[in-house]
Amino acid sequence: MNPFEQEPFLPWEKTVLSTLIKEDENLDAYWKQWSKDWEYIWPNANYDESKAGNLPLPSILVNPETGKAITSPEEWPALRQIHLKNITKIFYGELPPLPEAQEFKTIWSKDVFEGTATERLISLTLHNKGKSHTATILAFIPKADHPVPAIVAMNFPGNHGCLDDKDVPLSTWRDQQTNRGSGKSRWDFRLLTDAGFAVFTCARYDFYPDDILGRKESVFRLFYDEKELTPQSRNLTAISAWAYGYSRIREMAAEFPEIDAKRIWAHGHSRLGKTALWTIANDPEWAGAISNCSGCEGAALSRRRYGELLEGVDHLLSWWTTPACKPYAENPALLPFDAHTIIAMAAPRPILVTSAKEDQWADPMGQFLAVKAAQEIYQFLGRPTLPSQDYPKLQELLMCPSLGYYERYGIHDVTDQDWTYTLRFIEQAEKYNAQ
Ligand code: GCU
Repeated sequence: MNPFEQEPFLPWEKTVLSTLIKEDENLDAYWKQWSKDWEYIWPNANYDESKAGNLPLPSILVNPETGKAITSPEEWPALRQIHLKNITKIFYGELPPLPEAQEFKTIWSKDVFEGTATERLISLTLHNKGKSHTATILAFIPKADHPVPAIVAMNFPGNHGCLDDKDVPLSTWRDQQTNRGSGKSRWDFRLLTDAGFAVFTCARYDFYPDDILGRKESVFRLFYDEKELTPQSRNLTAISAWAYGYSRIREMAAEFPEIDAKRIWAHGHSRLGKTALWTIANDPEWAGAISNCSGCEGAALSRRRYGELLEGVDHLLSWWTTPACKPYAENPALLPFDAHTIIAMAAPRPILVTSAKEDQWADPMGQFLAVKAAQEIYQFLGRPTLPSQDYPKLQELLMCPSLGYYERYGIHDVTDQDWTYTLRFIEQAEKYNAQ
């Protein structure tokens, strides 16, 4: 019986998708089946809270290997490692190793926003064993007489899609190119620099072109032979490649004299919101993270049958999960962790999780319940809990301040309101940490 005590929800045991990915030459058939399966899954998602199931969550403080709970903060680092190992194995796989060297070069820099900030185009190159891999970073840095905090946030459309600026070169992902400025509503760079924050962004495809063929062109190239980078190399996931990219950009930003290396925050939307959580779980140098509408395999609990299910991610977005995920995707009750444990990997560093009313696919309630359950570790490490345990009113930013959650009006997106709440959250969290 499946964990939700209903007939198996998804018919993919009958589909040929899993056999097709074993044969690279069957890719046309693969994509055809892929579209068919998506067309099935979207209209069949459950949005009835009474059918969500809400299976009980494992305690973050309990060692899943022994069933024993830790009783003092000194025991947390060892237990954290066990959780991290499980999350690596079942969800995202390992990040690539550090490159032998990394270097950056400013391609151009110019004054913007009435001279209050500079906009820069930077190439960041990683070198390993005679190979190199380059990502192009777009940065906005406010002028200040002191080092400023920074937000690192990868983008979907490519740098040229984030603004109208002909100096930013058009980038492509294979033959796919978005229009200049097509995604600019998500990027109010001026709002951020006016608030005193630098921003570093780059196309996610610079680190991993987001599909089943992406490995060959991804940053994994630096560490593996081409023949190892196939649709079957499922331990090498896009989410880990992006998380790795976030941290290489963080390291680069930390070298800028204008940036305060201790105040660099990871921000990501949707699949990049899943990535932001995984990024800071793997790299202790991040100040904190904002996981915007990240949903399934991100901040939403897998032990709920609401909106997108892990079973769907594992089946249709197989380059985001490892091969070990399947039995857990079919029966999430077996997972030794859940989204609250993933959030806990950041503790005690601050995490903000965001939802949108018209983004039920990402399961706002499942995200809130994960934040609520993650309080267990923050409290254990001496941090305050949320001021209320009830679901907050729409538009209300509930924060404690190491954990934050809100649901705003609107769709799956990044809006100026999201940036404003993000800044408010960071300000409060930094104030608390400075006490
Ligand atoms: C799809 C996918 C989500 C993902 C989203 C995105 O909707 O099902 O898991 O978060 O794409 O990244 O935009």
